[in-house]
Amino acid sequence: MCPTKYQAVIPNWQPAPISVEASTEEVHLWLASIDIAAADVELLHGILTNDERERAARFHFERDRNRFIAGRGLLRILLGGYLRKPPADISFTYNPNGKPFVRGLEDHFDFNLSHSGGLALYAFTLGHRIGVDVECLDRELEVESLASRFFSVQEVAALMALPPHHRRKAFFDCWTRKEAYIKARGEGLSFGLKDFSVSVAPSDPPALLNVSQEPKEAERWRYLPIDAGPSYAAAAAVEGKMNPRTRYWRFRQEILNKNLNGVPA
Ligand SMILES: CC(C)(COP(=O)(O)OP(=O)(O)OC[C@H]1O[C@@H](n2cnc3c(N)ncnc32)[C@H](O)[C@@H]1OP(=O)(O)O)[C@@H](O)C(=O)NCCC(=O)NCCS
Repeated sequence: MCPTKYQAVIPNWQPAPISVEASTEEVHLWLASIDIAAADVELLHGILTNDERERAARFHFERDRNRFIAGRGLLRILLGGYLRKPPADISFTYNPNGKPFVRGLEDHFDFNLSHSGGLALYAFTLGHRIGVDVECLDRELEVESLASRFFSVQEVAALMALPPHHRRKAFFDCWTRKEAYIKARGEGLSFGLKDFSVSVAPSDPPALLNVSQEPKEAERWRYLPIDAGPSYAAAAAVEGKMNPRTRYWRFRQEILNKNLNGVPA
């Protein structure tokens, strides 16, 4: 099971303030449970657009549908807080690979989100491209064979050099670092996963090591330190040579209540 009682396992993520301000000097990371009360799912459904509701309706399982509604609804609430707008009035545009942006703020305000199990990770910043990924570790995967399909030669070698009992966590660390980077670039899987390398060994800090055909690319990116608890691997890649200050916030029910007060179900 992928736990969503993040309050218990991640004490260093602070309860979020009610009012937030985006900044070029800071990156705000938010963790939220998307396994929320059915009544709140109903209310969040009310702030989605028709196309988001249609997308929600296409999920086969109720749990997946509810998690999508919660993840998208909370995103709207968080964006509404940053942009001082009603959550339902936020309008998205998408790049050709599906990365969402706030309409009109594509070049300035960047955000990204990822969900795994019942947990969602969000990132917001001004003036830097950003990407995040979170993965629940509680999955039976053939990590060696998956690595040989998706990782670069350098990453596979680094993984296989580890003692077998360290490989599983290292695999997910590598995976989330790769996903966060391609999501920050907004390229999705159109970008060759074997064409760049990130750090793999638990003793190495998260880093973009090299990108094929782009010799200066690695020095242009940073990974933010991120601990999503013992059951998850997570990564956040941000563009720029400067190390931004990172704020770690847990979503709070009070923020939901404040925003959903008066929203018809
Ligand atoms: C779509 C993709 C960008 C992320 O997919 P994912 O890991 O399944 O999903 P996550 O939960 O991390 O992220 C989903 C969110 O990313 C955002 N997103 C979608 N396309 C994006 C893109 N091209 N760039 C950045 N963000 C994107 C959306 O907000 C989406 O949220 P939504 O589902 O509520 O609309 C893409 O990288 C993918 O399909 N990956 C598959 C995983 C894989 O095979 N990895 C190989 C191991 S390295």
